[in-house]
Amino acid sequence: MIAFFLSLSLSCSQNIIRKESTMTELLPLEKSIIHTDHNGLTQEEFANLKEKTIKAKDLSYSPYSNFRVGATILTTCGEYISGANVENASYGACICAERTAITRAVVSGFKSFRAIGISTDLKDKIGSPCGICRQVIREFGLNVSIYLFNVDGSKYFRVQLKDILPLSFGPSDLGLPEHDG
Ligand code: THU
Repeated sequence: MIAFFLSLSLSCSQNIIRKESTMTELLPLEKSIIHTDHNGLTQEEFANLKEKTIKAKDLSYSPYSNFRVGATILTTCGEYISGANVENASYGACICAERTAITRAVVSGFKSFRAIGISTDLKDKIGSPCGICRQVIREFGLNVSIYLFNVDGSKYFRVQLKDILPLSFGPSDLGLPEHDG
């Protein structure tokens, strides 16, 4: 069962208090729903995404946390673009794996994504994208599937971006088209 909890959050712009469902912790795999479907990805695409996401951890520069994170984007053009977390002696300058993969994709000319894989070195748990990364993923599509892999990809957890970032703000709120249509 997915571990969700209700939190109260204050929306400054609307000056209301609303309840949100937020996944905030690393989920013990044994207590999670392990998806066996690939949500539109072929077996080959899923296998590629998994392999490249696990391998992306080798790109990590994380001497301060020693917490390697790898990420791989699958674009709607079928490209796989990987990134990893890059830390800094000035801790606030650290950038997460998801965002290095996304910025790399964007400057390579890809702005429409089908899926993103994320992996850590946790064996029996999976890492979940931080709030900033959820917002950056959202820029390129509410319908992006997020695959969270354990250390070797032997287990994974799939969520949709819109389910972990409800009531989100994106391009259409500023009159621009959404990148994933
Ligand atoms: N990290 C990510 O790469 N992605 C996330 O979504 C959460 C955290 C990284 C940042 C930092 O280098 C390390 O994990 C510990 O927070």
